[in-house]
Amino acid sequence: MSDRKWPVEWQEWAKASRATFPNAQSSLMPFLHRVRSQRGWLPPEALDAAADLLGMTRQHVDSVVSFYTLFRCEPTGRRTIHVCLGLSCMMAGADTLMENLEHHLGIAEGQTTRDGAVTLLEAECLAACDLAPAAQVNLVYRGPVAPEAFRELLEVPVPEPDEWAPPTTPEARKATNRG
Ligand code: FES
Repeated sequence: MSDRKWPVEWQEWAKASRATFPNAQSSLMPFLHRVRSQRGWLPPEALDAAADLLGMTRQHVDSVVSFYTLFRCEPTGRRTIHVCLGLSCMMAGADTLMENLEHHLGIAEGQTTRDGAVTLLEAECLAACDLAPAAQVNLVYRGPVAPEAFRELLEVPVPEPDEWAPPTTPEARKATNRG
């Protein structure tokens, strides 16, 4: 680890991840999730910090981040809406749901409103086909969301930072059944 001064909370999260998982590579995802939860996206310095604090190469960090589409490396709105455009959701009207959101927000898929309030993204099967058409608001599932009910995705309270972040201790993982 370098003596570069990373935010204290990042240092603490990295320390907690390292203490929880058997090897450094396993500790990367929880760290990235925490930063993503805090910032809404992964700035370049967070990727540098992950490599530095967890003892791995920046190339390894990049390879993990680029594999998962839910990790974004560009600024996102305070509310990030993923609309599933997988087959089950499309058959239930997801394309119209997306169009309604685009029209209402005045942005296209992949864009953020000028005030930074909302980022609109598509997803490929959110593994919630029983909720079709399914969506996520800051990664919290919503559905079924009828195309004409698109406003609910703009009105549902967004989780506070860290609310959904994966637990980083064995006790917490056991308590939340997410271990
Ligand atoms: S196709 Fe949308 S959740 Fe599976």
